[in-house]
Amino acid sequence: MPAPHIRTFRDGKTLEGELAAAMHRVGALGVTYPEHYYETLVAKYKKDSVPYPHILTILGEPRIKGHFFYSEVLRRTGPFLDYGCGTGDNIRQLLRDGFSRAEITGFDLSWESIDLGFDLYRDRDALADLFVVNDTFPFGAEQFDMCYSGSVIHIIADDTELDEYLANAWMVLRPGGILFGSTLGIKDGDACGPDEHGPPRVAPRSDLIRHITAAGFAAPVIVVQPHESHHPGDKKCVFEFCTKKREKM
Ligand SMILES: C[S@@+](CC[C@H](N)C(=O)[O-])C[C@H]1O[C@@H](n2cnc3c(N)ncnc32)[C@H](O)[C@@H]1O
Repeated sequence: MPAPHIRTFRDGKTLEGELAAAMHRVGALGVTYPEHYYETLVAKYKKDSVPYPHILTILGEPRIKGHFFYSEVLRRTGPFLDYGCGTGDNIRQLLRDGFSRAEITGFDLSWESIDLGFDLYRDRDALADLFVVNDTFPFGAEQFDMCYSGSVIHIIADDTELDEYLANAWMVLRPGGILFGSTLGIKDGDACGPDEHGPPRVAPRSDLIRHITAAGFAAPVIVVQPHESHHPGDKKCVFEFCTKKREKM
């Protein structure tokens, strides 16, 4: 299990403000809310806050949409696993873009973020069957053609856990299957300043390549994207990656 995460918002952001902003973005996608829905959500989430506050701040604008491999994903068919799906925002983007519903599965260790997604999109009845939650990886070998990993690697601090995560991704993909996604990282030569709210793994490109190739994938294509910096010493960037399962020697 990843280490417990910090549930507080940063940079002056608040649960109330971010819920309102997320409702606004999701509303722009056509979702409507009954009267007093906002107050109900605030009351619900005020007790424990939300897991991974950052994913609430981008809900409605999922990162998968800008990934360099995404247009190719939409040209492909075959079973698709969102591994560490969180709110399911990326899955809803795939559906909006016409990817076959029958091919999509979202998996997470917990219902917490998935429930937040249902609460904001009000689509629990319509989408519940796409999500699988379990505290261990529940899938067998070679069930999927594509596996997406969005903002999961940087929350797995422990090397052994990361290697297990990537080994599962390798196992679950068919020969030639694609693993793609993104993670926060740090550019070569940059040192990252202290960041008490940041993710536990902020590693250079070489670290990402080492773990991915050790799991049995080809050397990944990596595209560096800017990251919204949170303090003057924050040199983090986003690594978008894409790689193919190769047969182990
Ligand atoms: C920061 S959130 C990102 C969620 C989503 N992928 C996104 O892009 O918005 C990370 C998610 O990964 C999940 N997670 C972490 N380790 C995992 C693992 N070993 N297996 C499955 N899910 C995992 C967490 O529960 C959390 O929902």
